[in-house]
Amino acid sequence: MEIRAATLEDLTPVGELLVACLNAGVGWLPEGDYSRNIPYRMKPSYALFVAERNESRGKVIAGFVECVREMPPHPPEVSNLFVHPAFQGQRIGLELFRHAVRYCGLGTLVSTYARNTSARKFFEGQGCVEVGRAPTYSLTDFMSGRTDDPNWRITYVVPQDRIAALVG
Ligand SMILES: CC(C)(COP(=O)(O)OP(=O)(O)OC[C@H]1O[C@@H](n2cnc3c(N)ncnc32)[C@H](O)[C@@H]1OP(=O)(O)O)[C@@H](O)C(=O)NCCC(=O)NCCS
Repeated sequence: MEIRAATLEDLTPVGELLVACLNAGVGWLPEGDYSRNIPYRMKPSYALFVAERNESRGKVIAGFVECVREMPPHPPEVSNLFVHPAFQGQRIGLELFRHAVRYCGLGTLVSTYARNTSARKFFEGQGCVEVGRAPTYSLTDFMSGRTDDPNWRITYVVPQDRIAALVG
């Protein structure tokens, strides 16, 4: 398996992978064509990496991770990590996360929906420490004022010692 920076040709398979993940279980997100979102995120501070595997049918994008490195003091962020359902549980998420943390460096943040228990287990299993919860798109979520609201996002920091361990 190779982890590399995405090219424009990867955008269609990355969008399809995102939709496959959403259909397989992250289906509680608001309706929308998420496959079209990725090109709009592209700006100089944005990086998209893909995990590519050699399968009998040819090269396949098995997962991807998005990173944002803004100007300091804005912390670097691993903004999305997705592994195709057919390839989950094979350490691809871990390899992508390692790559992203290496790219982002000290103070890396990562966030996920409070209700995304499997992603929370993944990030907490990697030693990420919760630093806060915040409402997202919906005013209703904000108005609920409940920090245990499942629609809020939990932000984690990757502690310095974990960065060292992950980067190796
Ligand atoms: C979360 C996700 C990226 C994990 O990727 P993955 O390739 O399946 O995970 P890995 O095989 O690399 O697992 C690495 C470790 O995390 C653990 N882990 C992964 N998913 C887990 C889960 N649902 N529950 C508990 N532990 C889990 C593994 O057991 C493994 O632990 P170990 O090192 O002790 O054996 C993947 O399940 C995914 O794409 N989910 C859908 C999208 C999503 O929710 N993304 C995160 C929010 S942006």
